[in-house]
Amino acid sequence: MLGVDEYNRLLAKKYNQLTKQWLTPVEIFKPHYSEAVAKYVLHRYMIEDYGKGYPLKVYELGGGSGTHAAGFLSYIKKNAPEVFANMVYGSVEISTALAAAQRKCVTTAMQTVGEEHASDKGKKCIKKSNPVTKIPYERVPYKVMVRDAIDRHGWGDTNPDPCFVVALEVLDNLPHDKVVFLKDEWMETRVFDTGNEGNDHYQELLDPVSDPLISRAMNAVGVGDSMDNSSFSHHFSAKTVLDYLASVINAVTGTPNTIYLPTGCLELLETLHKCRPNHRLIAADFDSLPGVQMPGTNAPLVATQSTGGKTKDLDSYLKQPGSADVFFPTDFEHLRILDLCARREGVVIENEDLLMDFRAPSHVVTTKAFMEKWADLDSTKTRSGYNPLAQDFANTKFFLSG
Ligand SMILES: C[S@@+](CC[C@H](N)C(=O)[O-])C[C@H]1O[C@@H](n2cnc3c(N)ncnc32)[C@H](O)[C@@H]1O
Repeated sequence: MLGVDEYNRLLAKKYNQLTKQWLTPVEIFKPHYSEAVAKYVLHRYMIEDYGKGYPLKVYELGGGSGTHAAGFLSYIKKNAPEVFANMVYGSVEISTALAAAQRKCVTTAMQTVGEEHASDKGKKCIKKSNPVTKIPYERVPYKVMVRDAIDRHGWGDTNPDPCFVVALEVLDNLPHDKVVFLKDEWMETRVFDTGNEGNDHYQELLDPVSDPLISRAMNAVGVGDSMDNSSFSHHFSAKTVLDYLASVINAVTGTPNTIYLPTGCLELLETLHKCRPNHRLIAADFDSLPGVQMPGTNAPLVATQSTGGKTKDLDSYLKQPGSADVFFPTDFEHLRILDLCARREGVVIENEDLLMDFRAPSHVVTTKAFMEKWADLDSTKTRSGYNPLAQDFANTKFFLSG
């Protein structure tokens, strides 16, 4: 590929040919993106777990059509066969149809690692590598479970074995709660069905915040004053400023201040810390989204299909429920704090003995920084020197837990 113009042209073509709802970096840069994640995980595994005799255990959340799992497993198989021989890869996917697609994609890739037939060219999930080794279906270390990753019960008993949890472009899909500063208090939002036809089919109802999960999320990100945030107060000098600003904006403009809280993400983190206390999370997502029409902090992009395969951004999520995609940006600083709070809520308090000693502070890096360190950038460099794996998707980041 020549350079940025040709890359953009090809990407636009891919978007036009899109047969599924998304075209993520995993899909665009397969297998290189997934290989970078695999290299990072393998590096940490070798340092932190291998010597203690633990097998590599990976959970992928929201694996979509399986492209990442296929790339990840192929990388480990090729580069660390002794690790691959004992590893476990559990995929947690909420969609039955996507789980089936994943299973097919991964098993096909595992059975074709090392070969590429002329007729396979351009097909998904077929990875070129040597040597040719087919793995019998029953020995592919991959299992997909159809369930909501947030749901604690799905994870079974607390398991303190070290593991990695990978969530690529999933946090933006998780539920959020809208809170509004009205007069002098924070209100939570419920959406209800009016039974009317047309644009007012769904409406919002505001009540003073009473949902404990919303309260925990507000407390974590420093909004509101009714929660105990004593142990984290040093993070939140912005807390009172935010409340003050909310009231000022409200008084001056008459417009309620609105924040979309990542409550689904907080609940997921609480679940992970409780059920897999020694997990290390690798989460990649968009930290900002272009073209958001809705007002409010952390407001989502609501996109619906328009004519000619183009999308149209809407100014409300109430207008076309069921046919519009809703994407939330991820505030990675908040994510870091949510993770700390979730850890505090989790098994740590109940049984500190279960915690292992690899914990370092979590950190957030740009995709560029992550790829520069872990990807094989020579494979994705264009002739002009432009490297889309590192340079495109500048509005995405990685969260890497300690
Ligand atoms: C945008 S796709 C990303 C797919 C893939 N990770 C990638 O990067 O190409 C989001 C995926 O998350 C799944 N998902 C959304 N919410 C989920 C949940 N609560 N539990 C498990 N999977 C979920 C969706 O079904 C979908 O497969």
